[in-house]
Amino acid sequence: MPEVDPVVQQVVARHGGDPSHLLQILIEVQEVFGYLPAPSLTAVARELAVPRSRVEGVAGFYSFLYPAPIGRYRILFSDNITDQMLGSRALLEALCRKLWVEPGKPSEDGLVSIDTTSCTGLCDQGPAVLVNGRAITRLDYRRVNEIAELVRKAVPLDRWPAAFFQIEDNVRRRDALLGPTFQPGSALAAALKLGPAGWLEQMRLSGLRGRGGAGFTTHVKWKSCRDAAGPDKVVVCNADEGEPGTFKDRVLLASHAERVFEGMALAAYATGARTGLVYLRGEYRFLLEPLRALLDRMRGDGLLGRSILGEKGFDFDIDIHLGAGAYVCGEETALLESLEGKRGTPRIRPPFPVTRGYLGRPTVVNNVETLAKTTLISLGGGAAFAATGTAQSTGTKLLSISGDCALPGIYEYPFGVTIERVLEDCGAGDAQLVQVGGASGVTIAGYEFQRRIAFEDVPTAGAFMVFDSGRDPFDIARNFVHFFAHESCGFCTPCRVGTALLKGYMDKLALGRGAKVDLADIEWVDRLLRNASHCGLGSSAANPVVDTLIKFRPSYERRLKSLEFEPAFDLDAALADARRITGRDDPAAHLDGGRGR
Ligand SMILES: Cc1cc2nc3c(=O)[nH]c(=O)nc-3n(C[C@H](O)[C@H](O)[C@H](O)COP(=O)(O)O)c2cc1C
Ligand code: SF4
Repeated sequence: MPEVDPVVQQVVARHGGDPSHLLQILIEVQEVFGYLPAPSLTAVARELAVPRSRVEGVAGFYSFLYPAPIGRYRILFSDNITDQMLGSRALLEALCRKLWVEPGKPSEDGLVSIDTTSCTGLCDQGPAVLVNGRAITRLDYRRVNEIAELVRKAVPLDRWPAAFFQIEDNVRRRDALLGPTFQPGSALAAALKLGPAGWLEQMRLSGLRGRGGAGFTTHVKWKSCRDAAGPDKVVVCNADEGEPGTFKDRVLLASHAERVFEGMALAAYATGARTGLVYLRGEYRFLLEPLRALLDRMRGDGLLGRSILGEKGFDFDIDIHLGAGAYVCGEETALLESLEGKRGTPRIRPPFPVTRGYLGRPTVVNNVETLAKTTLISLGGGAAFAATGTAQSTGTKLLSISGDCALPGIYEYPFGVTIERVLEDCGAGDAQLVQVGGASGVTIAGYEFQRRIAFEDVPTAGAFMVFDSGRDPFDIARNFVHFFAHESCGFCTPCRVGTALLKGYMDKLALGRGAKVDLADIEWVDRLLRNASHCGLGSSAANPVVDTLIKFRPSYERRLKSLEFEPAFDLDAALADARRITGRDDPAAHLDGGRGR
C-alpha cells in the first residue's frame, strides 16, 4: 500500500489545490487505496486547508465513497426492478455462496464485497453489475461462476475477458437525431453565421423543451443566463441519468458525444459562457477516458478553446466531473453543490442557477439530450425543428425501453407517439402496465395505452419500462419505494421520514400484515411528501404507489390481513392536545387531512 501523504499531495496538486474539487480528489484518492483510509481524509483536509469535518461530510454522503475498508473487488448488483425481473437477486445470492460472503459485508480476508446499488443505466442488457466501477452486463449463472473464479484467483480486472465489459447501444429506431451522420463543427459554423442573437432567435422558434424531465423551455433558460449579471458564465451538462429505467444519455455519450459537446458550445455562444462542465454519473465511469479523448480532438480541431472556429472572443472549454452514486445529484441545484465539491443537498430556489449557479456564477444546466438536440436546430433552423412533434412538445424524444419486451433499447420518436405504438414496435404483446418516466414518473394501465408521449399528456425524461400480465404492480411500486428511501438525501424531514414510512407500509403489506387503514395512511404520507418536501425527489416519491393503488387496487387488497380491521387506538384523536397547544385545527393538522371531522 503506498504512503498516504505523497498520494494525497499528488492528487491535490493535480487539482490545483482547489477545494471545489474535493469530490474529484476523494474519488481519485480512493482509486489508489480502494477506500478512503482515515489518514487520507486528514491529509486532504490539511492540503486543501478546509475543516476535516467537511471532508468527512462529503466522504459520508456518496454511496461510491467508502470511508471504511471494503473488498479489493467491490461487486455491486444493479437493483432496478428490471434487473430483478431478469433474476439479479438469485444471481447475487449464488455469487455470495460461491465466494462465502454475506451481502454488504466484506469477506474476512478483505478480498471481496458484494452488495446492491441503484439502477446502473443498463436495463436493456441486464442483469448488470459493477466490479470496481466497471460495468458487466447480461449476467447469468455461467458468468457468475467465471467471476467467482477470477476473484478467487485475484486476477486483475484488466485481465478479465473483454467480452464481459462489452456494452451495446441497442438503438432500435432512429429519427432526426440518431439518423443522419453529423459533421463535427457544422452546427457551430451555422450558428456563428447568425451571431449570438440570431442563433438564440432560432432556439426560440424551435420551441425546444428540456429533455431532463421538467420540460423547461431551453431558449428562456439560455436568455436568462445571457441577461444575468456576473462574470464567467457556465454551461453544465447534466449527465447524471439516475432515474431508474433511463439509459438514453449513456448511448448519446457513448456514440454521439460530439453532438453533446457541440451543443454545450452552442449554449456558450448564446449565453457568453466560457466554462463548460459535464457531470458524469459514477456508474458511467467507463465513458470518462473516451470522452476526454474526444475533448482533446475537439480542441485540436478548433472546436473548443480560444477563438473557436476563428471567431475572436468566442472562448469556451469543457471539463468532466464524476459523480459518486447519488441519485439526488441529478437535481440541478444538488448537482451544482456536488460540482463545487460538497454534499449533494438541493439548494433553496430562488436564486435559480441562471442567475446564481456554479460558484455563484450565472449557469445554464441542461440535459445531455437537450444539448444534442440543439445541433439539429442550428443545422436545420428552428422552424423546421418545430414542424415535428406536437404543439407544446416539438421535435423527437429518445425513449429507453426495457422490461417485458422482445426488443429493449433506444427508440427515437417524434413527440406525440402513442404508448400503444411504442409497445407494438418493441414487441410487448402482453403489456399490463408501463412505467413512463422512471420511478418518479407515471404508471400507465392498459386502458390508457392510447395516451401520447408529450409534455401535454404523458411527459417523460425517457424511461419506458414494460411489465406484462405476469407481474404484480405492488412489487413494482415496492421496488421504487425502496429506491427512494435509499436515495433520500435526508436533508428535510418530510422526505427523510416520509420515504422511510412508505417503505415500512409496503414491507408490512408484502408480509401480509397490512390492514385497510395502512392504505389510507399511505395516502396521507403521499400528501406529506408532495406538499412539504424540499425537492422533486421527495415530492414524487409516492407517485408509483399512489398510481398503482388507484389503478391496480386489488394487487394491494389481496395482501391485506383484514379488509375490516380498524385500529383501536385513534392516533388523530390522541394528537388533539398537541393541536390545541399549537392553536391549529386546520385540515393539514389532521392525519386524514380533516376529512374525518
Ligand atoms: C431528484 C431529481 C433527479 C434528477 N435527475 C436528473 C438527471 O439525472 N438528468 C437530468 O438531465 N435531469 C435530472 N433532473 C432534472 C434537473 O433538475 C433539471 O431540470 C435538468 O437537468 C434541466 O435540464 P433540461 O432543461 O435540459 O431538461 C432531476 C430532477 C430531480 C428532482
Ligand atoms: S426532498 Fe428528499 S432528497 Fe430532496 S432535499 Fe428533502 S430529503 Fe433531500
